[in-house]
Amino acid sequence: MFQVNENYLKLPGSYLFSTVGRKQREYQAAHPDKKVIRLSIGDVTQPLAPVILDALHKAVDEMGQAETFRGYAPDLGYEFLRNAIAENDYKARGCDISADEIFVSDGAKCDCSNIQEIFSLNNRIAVCDPVYPVYVDSNVMAGRAGDYNPMTETWGDVIYMPCTEANGFSPEFPKETPDIIYLCFPNNPTGATISKDRLQEWVDYANKNGAVILYDAAYEAYISEENIPHSIYECEGARTCAIEMRSFSKNAGFTGVRLGFTVIPKELKAGDVSLHSLWARRHGTKYNGAPYIIQRAGEAVYSPEGKKQLKEQVAYYMNNAHYIYNNLKDAGFQVSGGVNAPYIWLKTPKGMTSWEFFDYLLENANVVGTPGSGFGPSGEHFFRLTAFGSYESTVEAIERIRKMPL
Ligand code: MLT
Repeated sequence: MFQVNENYLKLPGSYLFSTVGRKQREYQAAHPDKKVIRLSIGDVTQPLAPVILDALHKAVDEMGQAETFRGYAPDLGYEFLRNAIAENDYKARGCDISADEIFVSDGAKCDCSNIQEIFSLNNRIAVCDPVYPVYVDSNVMAGRAGDYNPMTETWGDVIYMPCTEANGFSPEFPKETPDIIYLCFPNNPTGATISKDRLQEWVDYANKNGAVILYDAAYEAYISEENIPHSIYECEGARTCAIEMRSFSKNAGFTGVRLGFTVIPKELKAGDVSLHSLWARRHGTKYNGAPYIIQRAGEAVYSPEGKKQLKEQVAYYMNNAHYIYNNLKDAGFQVSGGVNAPYIWLKTPKGMTSWEFFDYLLENANVVGTPGSGFGPSGEHFFRLTAFGSYESTVEAIERIRKMPL
């Protein structure tokens, strides 16, 4: 008789954004006359930039001609895209990353969840709390997280690094020494950032303790302040301890198009085993690459016109972020984030739990957000709003929240 992977049975409930989506659908079905505004999942709403559309159209036409048709993509991704990434995301920022250290994929979510496969099940992971749930859930599925404690809402073998008001939502070094450290900056869900000096301390810590940092930089395009690192490779020594994951979803609106990449420097080794070789082996065996037409669209992101158009798109969302931040602050909410990130992290009013506030907001303002506790126990009594809506719906949502009886 076949048996299932019992680690999956340990997962409580459904994926956070599936639960939020289900609750929204149930409410809408019960109240068809209400116009529900969704500021929950960080999904973009603006159409693809013209430069991206042109690249897509052109690549589709190429696929229709025998001379320019492409089949399977190269294992690591097309060179034209990897060169553009190496040049613009890394060399232009003074980071020593070459095109053959970049693995193109169909998005950072898959890479963030799959990368743990190349590590031993005996490795201990450390995560920020609150945290993007994919890091923890993927380790649970693999059998690396131990058992779930429903009282504390934590996993026995996971090291949690609380990110609270007291520490400015920036993790401190954990008491127990981890093997694998997940960091995401600008942060999802809190919108907090890390200074270059502090990130350097993490790199030094990882190198000293023989740990690897899995650095999720999906939101780097939203950094507006100086001295906030866009890449972990801006820090000295990161080539021997860090893997970086990036996405085209948030900077170029590719949530429905799908494109991302992972960087593994060749110096990154466990003993004499190169992580680059392991991931290359994994990629070659399990993955056939992002489609040619999508990689061409990704290349267009780095063209002069692409950079200009996407800067405007990011500014559009950041205008929403400022609107949410300023207006909720004016209304007496305690808010953070929203300066270098498209997320606003607010404290729930009147001591409501995160899910109580979720229900309250849905019923009284017909606005959907994401409960902070869904990201981890330290997210309790917090709530996340995204700036990825349209300007009009963002303004309407905030007006409704301001008018809501509290
Ligand atoms: C989020 O809302 O946290 C993100 O959109 C989820 C994701 O990028 O997968």
